[in-house]
Amino acid sequence: MPRPFLLVAGRKLTFAAAAIVFRVLSATAFFSVDLVITILNVVLPQKPMGKVIPYPKPGAKGLWPQYRAPLESDSRSACPALNAMCNHGILARDGRKLSFKDISAAIQDTYNFSPTFSFFVPHYAAQMLGRDYFKDTVDLNDFNVHNGIEHDASLTRMDHCHEPEQHPPHHHTIDRLLNCATGIDPLSSRGRKLLTDSDLAVFSGIRRVESRLTNPQYTLDTFHKLFGSNNAATMTTIFGGKLDDLSVWLKEEKLPDGWEPRRRDRFGVSMLSFNRHVLAVELAVEEPDPKFVRASMKEQMLR
Ligand code: HEM
Repeated sequence: MPRPFLLVAGRKLTFAAAAIVFRVLSATAFFSVDLVITILNVVLPQKPMGKVIPYPKPGAKGLWPQYRAPLESDSRSACPALNAMCNHGILARDGRKLSFKDISAAIQDTYNFSPTFSFFVPHYAAQMLGRDYFKDTVDLNDFNVHNGIEHDASLTRMDHCHEPEQHPPHHHTIDRLLNCATGIDPLSSRGRKLLTDSDLAVFSGIRRVESRLTNPQYTLDTFHKLFGSNNAATMTTIFGGKLDDLSVWLKEEKLPDGWEPRRRDRFGVSMLSFNRHVLAVELAVEEPDPKFVRASMKEQMLR
């Protein structure tokens, strides 16, 4: 005999309300922890230079485990940060069956991100793939699902419609990105250039117009724009915009010898402090007139 409507509906509503309350409470707790980390990072001294990665973690004293370029059979993603960790054996070199929790720990140790940031992105990725962050594993290639996190108008890859294999870095696009650098390194006597947040915004604007002009399937919603700026902002924070380091990391997916993260925050770069850069990039993106972009694309083809 069917149960009374009010009983069934009441149970469903109670479960839905409990799920909402749980989500709100866990989000509040999570962002409170991130806020505390942000404040502590401001009031406490930074990690000393040369000691951002604590001994005996991989990369301590600038000594990264041996680099080995990926084999044909290895799994790789469209993400230089994850690929580089596999290329050095910080995560399994074949890039397969990686636990989300191990990816979080590796991000925290290798790039000096806070525990909150290092949890958030892999947790989000696990949800996107319909997997359990705490129990499941992932192959790097799984992250390449188009319009999951991977999106059009990237700064280091061609669009999916032109290059369905998203893992190989596109060197010409990376060179164009690095050539946008306008900042000046204050520590260099030779006026060495640095990539800045506004350079990232300029190149993002150009890439968005190029994609619109050349990719009949072009899409880039607000969420993917923000994710793109999030990825881009790691170049100016964790890499301090340094062109030599970025070139090795983005093209060879290798951590440069002697390199350590440029941000030395005591408890790692928090979501809150990182998002300042993400917004500085995304809010400054302006799409140039397609006429100029088309002309510059023609010029590049003639070269
Ligand atoms: C589990 C964590 C992560 C996942 C699942 C992930 C995933 C991805 C994906 C799918 C892309 C391609 C996006 C596109 O189409 O442009 C990407 C690009 C990128 N990611 Fe990650 N990523 C993670 C962590 C990180 C971290 C920790 C860093 C920095 C230290 C980073 C830096 C970048 C950069 C610089 C790009 C290139 C952006 C571009 O080409 O426009 N990622 N990531």
